[in-house]
Amino acid sequence: MLLRIDHVGIACHSLEAAVERYQSVFGLTVVSRETNEQQGVREAMLALPDGSSYVQLLEPLGPDTPVGRFLARRGEGLHHVGYAVADVAAALDAIGGRGARLVDRRPRHGSMGASIAFLHPADLGGVLTELVQPRDVRET
Ligand code: CO
Repeated sequence: MLLRIDHVGIACHSLEAAVERYQSVFGLTVVSRETNEQQGVREAMLALPDGSSYVQLLEPLGPDTPVGRFLARRGEGLHHVGYAVADVAAALDAIGGRGARLVDRRPRHGSMGASIAFLHPADLGGVLTELVQPRDVRET
């Protein structure tokens, strides 16, 4: 079901400072910048050299957003792990049937045209987990 790690999501106070840091330390390249009002974040996606995975840097649009509350509670750091799946709706159905709590019952719009859904961290070792069906993955 899980194909590979698609990205790691990292919460930061300043997107520009974090982008500069990840560019200067690792030489990564920003491939996408988006504001997602629904999720309350500004973000940048930086591609790893093999092009199959990303670092997703996340800055909250305000304190009363999921990432804003995360920063207030825990400070900057790893916010979630995103795994690629071929079919996010089918994966949600399967996972829900296996007793893991879902944050999203239905897929929603994610970065770079992906279809995504979040799983609750409580059943997954304390890690907020995102399923990602990238735009270019065709369902089989
Ligand atoms: Co993500």
